[in-house]
Amino acid sequence: MYIVEVASECAPVAKVGGLADVVYGLSGELQARGHDVEIILPKYDCMHYEHLEGLQVVYHGLWVPWHDGLIHCSVWSATLCGRSCFLIDPHGPEDFFGRGHYYGSWDDVTRFAFFSKATLEFLLKSNRRPAVIHCHDWQTALVPVLLYEIYAQAGMDRQRVCYTVHDFRYQGVTGEHVLWATGLNRPDYFLHTDRLGDHFNPNALNLMQGGIVYANFVTTVSLRHAWEAQTMEHGDGLGRALRMHQGKFGGVLNGIDDSVWNPASDPRIVQDYGPDCLDRKYANKEALRDRLWLAQSFKPLVAYVGSLERQKGVDLVRHGLFYSIWNNAQFVLLGTGSDSTITSYFWHLKQHLNDNPDCHLEIAHNDELAHLLYAGADLIIVPSLFEPCGESQMIALRYGAVPIVHAVGGLVDTVFDRDYSTKPPSERNGYVFQHTDQGAMESALRRAFGLWYDYPQEFRQLMINGMRYDFSWKRPGQDYSNIFDYIRYK
Ligand code: GLC
Repeated sequence: MYIVEVASECAPVAKVGGLADVVYGLSGELQARGHDVEIILPKYDCMHYEHLEGLQVVYHGLWVPWHDGLIHCSVWSATLCGRSCFLIDPHGPEDFFGRGHYYGSWDDVTRFAFFSKATLEFLLKSNRRPAVIHCHDWQTALVPVLLYEIYAQAGMDRQRVCYTVHDFRYQGVTGEHVLWATGLNRPDYFLHTDRLGDHFNPNALNLMQGGIVYANFVTTVSLRHAWEAQTMEHGDGLGRALRMHQGKFGGVLNGIDDSVWNPASDPRIVQDYGPDCLDRKYANKEALRDRLWLAQSFKPLVAYVGSLERQKGVDLVRHGLFYSIWNNAQFVLLGTGSDSTITSYFWHLKQHLNDNPDCHLEIAHNDELAHLLYAGADLIIVPSLFEPCGESQMIALRYGAVPIVHAVGGLVDTVFDRDYSTKPPSERNGYVFQHTDQGAMESALRRAFGLWYDYPQEFRQLMINGMRYDFSWKRPGQDYSNIFDYIRYK
């Protein structure tokens, strides 16, 4: 099947968050399954061009209708780690993608509305007719809207769209100027709440809602989050739209890149290991302690790897840190964030704990250290307040670091509590706490430390159970293939 992935990010050339890894991982897997896959991205000035091979202009005169005029674009092609990519490069005075950043301009909504329009114009003019167009998050939500309202009449009437939401918080809420710019026009028609009309503001346009209404199938990145988004505040106002369209809405759990995250062949750790030779993992624990000046004592090592944002439950991260060092465990944190109040708090904490032999805070982005941390840690905490899918817990499981997670989103679909899960004991792989108060986190840590000290054989079994799970892209690749087949022939 000919599939086009349209997104604002793709690892490693243009990565801000988890979306980039999904576009990269899923497109690789779909290709491995024999599909013809192309990725379309904006040509940002700041992207990591060193990852693109054979970059060249393949389409010179793409004139994209915009307001009453046309914007001239070039389209580039390149290969990104074996994947075929197209990059849209607009030349207008607005210089949409020459801003030195991916997001953060005052006109972000306009920039990505233009990208969505230019993508369809490119497919139309270059005679590409993918069976399925797969788009992601608010940035490319207009693709199904424009396809059905404009491009179907121009000859693209057989294309189908799957739309994946990674984060319901950012919906692309904007004014009606986007309708005039993209040629949709007719504000009276589109501003209706059954189409693109925002749930909270009757005069605003909500692009994500448009994606949900117009796409042939809508997914989010875990089953649990699909349920949360319809029934709880996690949908951020889109619950009604999702319930109205529940017949075409579902959750597909993301995968992780198992060639990068594999303790049996990871060049960034000091000793490779697997479920059958778990003892070798401890050489990594030792190396990690040496590197971070931690004491080599007989204690479990707890880690947090992730961004320092409110969403990630940073209050509980801090509490987990203190609880650990007061209860005969060690704690390592690796991460950074964009909220200066939060990061400066952790800098302060770092200074305060500088001489503590049981604790280290690394307030930075450091991929290489992340690998050693997963390999060296006994436990990983993921106390996110909400988490559509989450990656850290899946990596932890693969590396035999037992995850302790808050019962939310994708964390619920991947981590099964050792003591309370309804799964058979051999499928239990971690600890899950239900509430976001300190007591909830403490009781989970207490149970984990108790097992580590008193029943080491059982703790080992928990590690092995986790390592036996397959979180590669294989299953999500199959799920998306099924969805694409379904919408294609429906
Ligand atoms: C978003 C979500 C995260 C998910 C990622 C990839 O960043 O917050 O939970 O793993 O998208 O889908």
